[in-house]
Amino acid sequence: MLARLVLLLLPLPFLVAAHGTLFTSSVTYCQPPESLLVQQFDVSYIEHNNSISFDIAAQSVDSNVSVSANILVNVYGLTPVNVSIDICNLLSGVLCPLPQFTFNGSQSLALPSTLGVANRVPGIAFSIPDLEAYAQLTLIEVGTGEIKACVQATLSNGWSTRQPGVEWGTAVLALFTLLVAAWQSTSAHAVLPYRLLDLLHFYQTIAATALLSLNYPLLYRAFAVNFAWAMGLISSPNSKLQHSINNMRALTGGHLANSSSAAAVGLINRKISPWNTNIETSSPSSLTQSLLADTSANHSAPTNLRLAFGAFQQLSAVDEVQTVTDDSSNVLQAGIPIYVNSIHIATANAFMTIFLVGLVVMAIALGIAGLLYAFLYAANRFGWGKEQTRYRLTSSYPAYIRSWALRLGLIGVSPIMIFVFNQWSLKDSWLSILLSVLTLLAISAVVLYPVYLTLRLARRESPDALESNLEHLDTHGPLYAQYRTPRYYFFLPLLIAAFVKAVVIAAGQGRGMAQVVVFLIVEVAIVGAHIVLKPYDSRGGDVFSTYLAIVRLVCTGCMIAFVESVGVAAIPRVAIGAVIAVIFSIAVIVLAINIFLHAGVNRLWRRNKPERGPSRQGSADVSILEKGENTPIESEPGRASHSRTPSQYSATPDNTSVTLHSTSASMSSLTAGRHH
Ligand SMILES: *[C@@H]1O[C@H](CO)[C@@H](O)[C@H](O)[C@H]1NC(C)=O
Ligand SMILES: *[C@@H]1O[C@H](CO)[C@@H](O)[C@H](O)[C@H]1NC(C)=O
Ligand SMILES: *[C@@H]1O[C@H](CO)[C@@H](O)[C@H](O)[C@H]1NC(C)=O
Ligand SMILES: *[C@@H]1O[C@H](CO)[C@@H](O)[C@H](O)[C@H]1NC(C)=O
Ligand SMILES: *[C@@H]1O[C@H](CO)[C@@H](O)[C@H](O)[C@H]1NC(C)=O
Ligand SMILES: *[C@@H]1O[C@H](CO)[C@@H](O)[C@H](O)[C@H]1NC(C)=O
Repeated sequence: MLARLVLLLLPLPFLVAAHGTLFTSSVTYCQPPESLLVQQFDVSYIEHNNSISFDIAAQSVDSNVSVSANILVNVYGLTPVNVSIDICNLLSGVLCPLPQFTFNGSQSLALPSTLGVANRVPGIAFSIPDLEAYAQLTLIEVGTGEIKACVQATLSNGWSTRQPGVEWGTAVLALFTLLVAAWQSTSAHAVLPYRLLDLLHFYQTIAATALLSLNYPLLYRAFAVNFAWAMGLISSPNSKLQHSINNMRALTGGHLANSSSAAAVGLINRKISPWNTNIETSSPSSLTQSLLADTSANHSAPTNLRLAFGAFQQLSAVDEVQTVTDDSSNVLQAGIPIYVNSIHIATANAFMTIFLVGLVVMAIALGIAGLLYAFLYAANRFGWGKEQTRYRLTSSYPAYIRSWALRLGLIGVSPIMIFVFNQWSLKDSWLSILLSVLTLLAISAVVLYPVYLTLRLARRESPDALESNLEHLDTHGPLYAQYRTPRYYFFLPLLIAAFVKAVVIAAGQGRGMAQVVVFLIVEVAIVGAHIVLKPYDSRGGDVFSTYLAIVRLVCTGCMIAFVESVGVAAIPRVAIGAVIAVIFSIAVIVLAINIFLHAGVNRLWRRNKPERGPSRQGSADVSILEKGENTPIESEPGRASHSRTPSQYSATPDNTSVTLHSTSASMSSLTAGRHH
């Protein structure tokens, strides 16, 4: 009931500008081709003038076979059309036996209303995103019942939950957060640097939920593909990058399939969505005549049909239509293969893609770090700005850079683990495997060394030392500074969860139930840890983080419906997929609102309140960092003295730096207090 309600409500936003077209989105043979070769098969049904347009290039090559045809349309596991046509009774038998001919034609023809096609296609088919439907044409030899040809085409209406607007929107939100976080991150307690990690980790969570070996509805997988960029999976249909990776793999012993610019949907394993019921193509022997045979007796209908029925000749175009049966080797299995191939990345190219994207990100980061360094160097050389300021900026530079390296490591660690482990399970090119080992070692060094230092400091001295040792706080704070001092270790369960999930995704391919169960256990443990440990300083922080954890738990729980062996029917599965997508989207919006509040957007309408801005001071600091203006920093000894004594600050024992730290800290507590 609920399922149907959601299905009815879902297309509402799309109805406004409905295309009213159904067209073929991929074409494959479902049996190795014998009598019928298909080069091109684009058919579309246009609703408003009840017409069919097609652009077909095909040829029949067998001599002396008489066939009957079966046309079957499957929509969400239902078969509204399953008709068999005895071709020998059509057109007074000219097609019997099937002549050898080349059929190369494109045409738009109005369907006679007697066919009643318009009444058979429900309106929802034109507006529901990621329609799961396909049409299948089977030619069966009369007498022997042998299948002479079987062609399948998936249907689409052009709508999808994968929207470039969503991809760009989420990316712009992340970029905004990154800029403000870079601005605020001179303080270990500013909120946005942590929100940046929360946001990207949440994007990655959404993407990772589509990597399990589950029978996802197309709609949910398309939704999750919006977040693939956060995993470093960036590509386009004819990407040069993919081409280079193909070549690299071919030269280093790779044998797995290359990236393709074609739609991946046609290669999906026939046991899973959109092929919800596994149609056996074994000979249906009793064939019946049906409606098409009768209506085509009206010879006035095909008068506007002008086609090229050429003599038999080999079509020159290369055969791009692939044969996909249950046991052919090109079938894409559920999980990582379908996900990455739907963004035109071959399964074996996935790791190299995120490796190269990671290199680009690193190069940009190094470039910015170099520019900052050059600027500081020049400032010192030519004496720009106040000496105190210069000294402070120069001395906090290494900690700033190292803390950002740690943040980048924390952002990259989850996708890198997933795709490194996946690469190991493929046994493809040796160079990919070598690079994946090196990458794993590098990311481990970036993340685990600070973890080791932090745990060692907390053990040798006390957890309080993590806060009082300002150099450690500034450098390794991204790991723990957002938690209460006694709960500094809360980053450990999160890192372990990421590791377990990566192992489960890569090693559990093909065992969807086990994957979902382990994911559920991990999410329950994380929610439990939030509730028991209450790791954050403020109640608001706990509530917010627990909310995100519960969202992940609930959505993971719903994924049980996608397990193949559970066998949920197609329509409820689509509805559940839509519900999960909505829950995730709301959580992203909540994250965005939280980020805007912490970024100080609310000050725009609170301007009348006289705020002696610690945050303004923060921004003043950064403007110095960026423009090198001679902005004086008022040191506020009253503020400075209450939280940190100058002697605690090891790197720069002067008053200004103390002011920076204490005021930024009070800023974040102020902001936190206000919005939680
Ligand atoms: C065509 O096939 C039918 C039966 O399948 C056979 O009787 C006939 O002789 C065949 N004709 C030719 C020209 O091969
Ligand atoms: C079909 O015919 C058109 C022109 O008549 C031609 O350009 C096209 O290449 C042909 N297609 C194939 C697959 O031969
Ligand atoms: C139906 O409309 C489409 C455009 O909406 C047009 O391309 C096509 O030629 C029309 N078909 C007929 C038979 O008029
Ligand atoms: C992949 O592409 C390369 C060249 O780009 C080619 O040498 C190799 O044979 C292709 N591999 C497969 C499996 O098609
Ligand atoms: C379609 O119809 C044929 C006989 O007309 C039958 O054998 C076959 O099982 C039907 N397929 C489905 C999916 O109902
Ligand atoms: C044949 O189709 C035309 C419209 O295409 C219709 O006007 C006519 O009545 C039909 N004739 C029969 C016998 O159905």
